[in-house]
Amino acid sequence: MATIVKVNDLSKVYQGGFEALKSVSISIEQGEILALLGPNGAGKTTLISILCGITSPTGGTATVDGHDIITSYRQARSLIGLVPQEVALEPFERVINTVRFSRGLFGKNRDDALIERILRQLSLWDKRHSRIRELSGGMKRRVLIAKALCHEPRVLFLDEPTAGVDVELRRDMWKIVEGLRADGVTIILTTHYIEEAEAIADRVGVINHGEILLVEEKDALMKRMGRKTLRIDLKDPVSAVPASLSDYDLELGADGRTLSYHYDTRGDGTGITRLLQALSKEGLSLRDIQTTQSSLEEIFVGLVKEGAA
Ligand SMILES: Nc1ncnc2c1ncn2[C@@H]1O[C@H](COP(=O)(O)OP(=O)(O)OP(=O)(O)O)[C@@H](O)[C@H]1O
Ligand SMILES: [Mg+2]
Repeated sequence: MATIVKVNDLSKVYQGGFEALKSVSISIEQGEILALLGPNGAGKTTLISILCGITSPTGGTATVDGHDIITSYRQARSLIGLVPQEVALEPFERVINTVRFSRGLFGKNRDDALIERILRQLSLWDKRHSRIRELSGGMKRRVLIAKALCHEPRVLFLDEPTAGVDVELRRDMWKIVEGLRADGVTIILTTHYIEEAEAIADRVGVINHGEILLVEEKDALMKRMGRKTLRIDLKDPVSAVPASLSDYDLELGADGRTLSYHYDTRGDGTGITRLLQALSKEGLSLRDIQTTQSSLEEIFVGLVKEGAA
C-alpha cells in the first residue's frame, strides 16, 4: 500500500515550554482508517493541527501525498478535510451557505448536487436554511462534518467527531466513514469511545505524553494483547478453589458458583481441556460455560497505565 501521510520526528514545544509532541513518526497508508487513541492532553489535537497547518511544529517534517506541509502548504492542505474538536462556526450564517462557502474556499466549483447529498447523508437537509445558532450541539457537529466533506478531501481528519452526539449520529457517521473508505479516502480519527475504534478502525495508534506508544493492525493488536476468560458455572457451590486446581489462574465468584479462568490466546494451548478434566476429577458438575474476550478498551487502559509506570 502507498503511504499518503508521512510524519518524521515531529515535535512541538508550545510557548511557555510545554513539550506536547516528542519526535513523533508515523506513516499512514492510503485508504486506511487509523484511530488515534490517547488520554486527554496526549497530543492528538496538536498532531492533527500541525498536519492541517493550524499549528507550526518546532521540529521534524511531514508530507501529505508527497507535499511538505510547510513548504507546499497549499497543495497539502487542498487534499485534507478536518472536522475540528472545537465547534467554530459563524452563528448567523445559514447551514447551506456555510457548507457552500467552505467548498469555495478550496477553489472548487459550486456543486449543489454534492452539497445536497452530503447534507442529506447527515440529516441536515431539512435544516439547510436554518441559522447555525438555531441548531443543537449535535447538529452543529454535523455541519462541521459537512464542511469537511464538501471539498472532497482525500485525507480526512476527524478529531472526536462523535463527542456529545447521539447514538444515531454516531451510527450515521460510521456509515459515512465506511462509504468514504470505499471511495479510497484515508481517515484519521481520534476518539475517547474506544468501541468506536474497535468498530471502524483498520489500525490503532496509541499516543500518550506526546509519544506514540504503538501503531498496529487492530485485529492483530486485539489478538496479541487480548485475554480471554472462560466462565464456568457450577451446579453446586464450593467454598474455595480445590487445592488440586491451584495451578490454574482461577477466580471464584462471591456466591461460590462461578469460576473464571483467564488465559491468553498466544500460547500453544489454552489449558481448557486439562482444566475441564481436572474439574470433573474433583467431582464438580458444570451447569454452563462461556468465553469472553477482552475489549480494545481494556487493552488501551492497560497500555496507557503501563506507559505511566
Ligand atoms: N496553545 C497551547 N499552548 C500551550 N499548551 C498547549 C496548547 N495547546 C495544547 N497544549 C497542551 O499540549 C498538550 C496536548 O494537547 P492536545 O490538545 O494535543 O491533547 P489531546 O490529545 O488532543 O487531548 P484531548 O483528548 O483532551 O482532546 C496538553 O497538555 C495541552 O495543555
Ligand atoms: Mg484533542
